[in-house]
Amino acid sequence: MFRTEIPEYVKSILFRLKTAGFDSYLVGGCVRDSVMGAVPHDYDIATPASPEAVEACFNDLHVIETGLKHGTVTVVSRGHPVEITTFRSDGEYLDNRRPEHVTFVSDLETDLSRRDFTVNALAYSPDSGIVDLFGGTEDIKAGIIRCVGDPETRFREDGLRILRALRFASRLGFTVDDATDAAIHKCSRLLDNISAERIFSELGGILTGSAAERILTDYSDIMFRIMPELEPMSRTTQNNPHHMYDVWTHTVKSVGAAEPDRILRLAMLFHDCGKPACKTTDDDGIDHFRGHPEVSGRIARVILNRLKSDNRTKDEVLFLVEHHDIQFSPKDNRLKKFIAETGEERFGRLLEVKHADLKARSEYSREVSLPELQRIEGIFREMKASGTCIQVKDLAVNGRDLIKLGVPEGKAVGLMLAQLLDMVVAGEIQNDREQLLAKTRHLSGKFTEM
Ligand code: CTP
Repeated sequence: MFRTEIPEYVKSILFRLKTAGFDSYLVGGCVRDSVMGAVPHDYDIATPASPEAVEACFNDLHVIETGLKHGTVTVVSRGHPVEITTFRSDGEYLDNRRPEHVTFVSDLETDLSRRDFTVNALAYSPDSGIVDLFGGTEDIKAGIIRCVGDPETRFREDGLRILRALRFASRLGFTVDDATDAAIHKCSRLLDNISAERIFSELGGILTGSAAERILTDYSDIMFRIMPELEPMSRTTQNNPHHMYDVWTHTVKSVGAAEPDRILRLAMLFHDCGKPACKTTDDDGIDHFRGHPEVSGRIARVILNRLKSDNRTKDEVLFLVEHHDIQFSPKDNRLKKFIAETGEERFGRLLEVKHADLKARSEYSREVSLPELQRIEGIFREMKASGTCIQVKDLAVNGRDLIKLGVPEGKAVGLMLAQLLDMVVAGEIQNDREQLLAKTRHLSGKFTEM
């Protein structure tokens, strides 16, 4: 059953196509999501009309020739883009990405049979209701990802479907049907031909799904295929009081323990990947991993570069990986400064990383480390509340103000600003313009007197 309301801008397209003699259908993700009771984020339409006929049908609207070769045009209906694709059967997939050429057909059945998974091979029209030729609704009910037809053929057509299967299973909390599961493991080398951008996008989807921990556990071979640098973790035991799992198992559990945020979960995935290279065992048989955050950072950088990560994701993830093990003893007065320099958002994330890391460790480790983490959290909360979690750029004075007061232009200005920031962060003065100017006069006066 289509369980959500179809928006007017979609209904009007279906209606106009039908009036022109083309019985058309909603297809793919929007039908799957609606059957599951979730509001679709976009709507795709399949139609027997040729792309030219679709263009003619909507010549009064903005029409974009998205992929004429593959039969897709986008119609902008009341401000919303809707993709309309002519029924097709796909030709040979020469590069495991998209068919070299497609053949337009006139029947819905052929179009649905070319699709990847039964849950994605559903169609709907107001006249016909749900069209389910491959058991997609049953699979939705049972929570199963199953290829339409022969799984190996489906994966050979497009190797990315291996990751798509894992992404849907992770996001929807579904299990993978046995034959599809066997083909995923057997065909993993097909991923070698898939572009880095497509892989990275699916990886983000897999990691942020509700079943990410299970998928990473059951499909570690797939993860190691796309990121071979992570494989040594699965062979690295950790014989010390802080751990109870090997490095990969700990990693996977820490991913599951973190909020489903892409940057956080990527950070958890990489945080310990430098451990295998750093492992030493002392005379008592205890394992140590000195310097691993830095090595993890280096490995993560190589992976993120290869997968063509955007710079913001890379910077955030690498910061978290490199600092995940940073410690501050109660006597250490650098903590407040570090928090202020790092900034609220980043430091907040770092604390989440530390929590997720801790949750995946031994009970002993949690007992000894949790109070310290809570102390740091308390300080962070206080700083946020008192507005002292700030950086130089947030000070109520700037360099020009200091120069006006007689601080010599150049290095001295930067030093003075840093000194003022230290005092604000330490709570000695407030981030108040008058107080800061008075302090500057006082300090620079002292400087001149000397
Ligand atoms: N499809 C496919 N094989 C692919 C990609 C897509 O068979 N490699 C089909 C599926 O039927 C899918 C539809 O094309 O449902 C649309 O694909 P896409 O927009 O990528 O995914 P959705 O299923 O819509 O899911 P979502 O947008 O939620 O990711």
